[in-house]
Amino acid sequence: MMWPLQLPALLALGKLAAAASTLFLSGTIIAFDHDADGLEVIRDGSLLVTDDRITGVYSKGSSPDKLPSGTETVDVSGKIITPGFIDTHRHLWQTGLKTLGSNTSLVEYLHHYGSYPATGLLTAEDVYLGQLTGIYESLAGGVTTILDHAHHTWSRDTAEAGLQAAVDSGARIFWAYAIQNTSASFGSTEQLQHIRDIALNGSFRGTPTELGIAYDSWSPPNDPGEVNAVISTAKEFNVSVITTHSLAGPWGAVNSPEDLHALQILNTSTPIVISHASFLSATGAQLLRATNQFISITPESEAHYGHTHPYNHLIQDQAALGIDTHFTYSGDILFQARFWLQKTRLLLSEEILNRWQVPRLNPMSVVQAFLLATRNGGLALRRNDLGVIAVGAKADLVVWDGTSPAMLGWNDPVAAVILHASVGDIEHVLVDGAWKKRDGKIVEPKYPEIQHKFLKSAKRLQKVFTELDIEIPSGPWSYSGLPIAEPLQADVLRGDGDGYGNKFLQV
Ligand SMILES: *[C@@H]1O[C@H](CO)[C@@H](O)[C@H](O)[C@H]1NC(C)=O
Ligand SMILES: *[C@@H]1O[C@H](CO)[C@@H](O)[C@H](O)[C@H]1NC(C)=O
Ligand SMILES: *[C@@H]1O[C@H](CO)[C@@H](O)[C@H](O)[C@H]1NC(C)=O
Ligand SMILES: *[C@@H]1O[C@H](CO)[C@@H](O)[C@H](O)[C@H]1NC(C)=O
Ligand SMILES: *[C@@H]1O[C@H](CO)[C@@H](O)[C@H](O)[C@H]1NC(C)=O
Ligand SMILES: [Zn+2]
Repeated sequence: MMWPLQLPALLALGKLAAAASTLFLSGTIIAFDHDADGLEVIRDGSLLVTDDRITGVYSKGSSPDKLPSGTETVDVSGKIITPGFIDTHRHLWQTGLKTLGSNTSLVEYLHHYGSYPATGLLTAEDVYLGQLTGIYESLAGGVTTILDHAHHTWSRDTAEAGLQAAVDSGARIFWAYAIQNTSASFGSTEQLQHIRDIALNGSFRGTPTELGIAYDSWSPPNDPGEVNAVISTAKEFNVSVITTHSLAGPWGAVNSPEDLHALQILNTSTPIVISHASFLSATGAQLLRATNQFISITPESEAHYGHTHPYNHLIQDQAALGIDTHFTYSGDILFQARFWLQKTRLLLSEEILNRWQVPRLNPMSVVQAFLLATRNGGLALRRNDLGVIAVGAKADLVVWDGTSPAMLGWNDPVAAVILHASVGDIEHVLVDGAWKKRDGKIVEPKYPEIQHKFLKSAKRLQKVFTELDIEIPSGPWSYSGLPIAEPLQADVLRGDGDGYGNKFLQV
């Protein structure tokens, strides 16, 4: 069957108006087949978006019976359309600290850049600008959904500024308000009251922003009154997600599935996302499967800080990807997916080589990396309509320039994206059917003004954080009581010199 209108007529029609409906014509679509529970590549296909949803996915030769009036048509021949990436762990407020922490350890991070040392150092405007520019970085990189472990909750003002930025960005932000004991005057009691006020006010409803809760003090010795208050607030307002940092083993910041299950919150309808899950136990993994809850693997973070993730390759069926502190390294999920894929391949091949044997097959595929970065993020949030291209799913989309120097010559579109593309090859990004990046540029008339204000804020913050007089403790480590030790320092210079390198900060 042919299209109801010839291509030139459609293209002309598309120029007419700001449509609530968009038809992407003649591209390669990495769709999701819910029946087969897997990816489906549609070549020379078309995709119809109506308002916030995908309303049609057409293979070559088929077409919509009738287009909504005012449909804009976008020719995507030679291009690849994928779902937007899903980032299941981030601290969006930190953009203003960019490049300050290029060589931090986790011990230093927690004493110098985390939410505790940052208490009182950021104004509400600093939070707003860091949050917003962090989201634009994500959108430019094809990330359309972010689970923000929002620990900029130092006061009502700073908390609301981050929420407002999430709403203003138009991105899909699961904004998880962190209940934390950063200041005596604004502790968990005040924060839980604030969550109530925000939930009752509901100013974010009707936007792609959703309310969640972040909490890191579940494990014994905990404060049972506080833990119960957090759980009852989450239940009362039916928050969209609960998230927690989990670094077990020598790190001692446990928040394990076992601990959460003992509190009876794992087996509920609320999605629980456990970030890092370093040193997850076999029992914890079984619990995640039994309760269908997910971990967020943040591959670069876990390498940068040495959180590590010794067992996470064994629980990838209950895992999605995240980024964490994007001021210290890359802010895109494409890189995380590629890094994790190759790291897992290395690890599983080494298991064979360590037995003095050689691996016959490659242990992980690009499709698996792609699913971790997209569909599994949706599953982690219990959202069947996120991270997939299928009729009825949210229209959160990325269009890749298949003819860029790096992508030119592709045959398998999944391999092209996961192994060859860079974020610079992302032409268009839509969230809820609305354009967020178009022809390589952020779609926001105020973006230059936001950048200008952000740069002023970042310059001030970088001075403040650089001048903090921080002594990196030498032990014992506060969470576990274990010793803090000196790692071997890399040295790239010949001879006995200190080849560690220079840090080029100017403040
Ligand atoms: C919260 O922090 C204060 C110090 O600022 C401390 O005295 C108090 O014990 C902490 N509360 C909890 C529950 O950790
Ligand atoms: C609700 O939230 C919005 C946005 O933060 C704020 O402007 C408004 O004043 C709030 N309304 C009430 C009644 O708190
Ligand atoms: C809670 O929210 C979810 C969606 O986030 C919805 O499916 C469910 O029906 C809600 N439950 C209640 C009791 O409102
Ligand atoms: C969670 O609840 C479901 C339904 O009640 C039950 O079938 C399942 O066994 C429970 N899982 C765990 C780990 O308790
Ligand atoms: C590495 O980090 C330490 C601690 O923050 C700092 O003193 C040092 O200057 C850094 N070195 C380089 C080469 O960046
Ligand atoms: Zn984190």
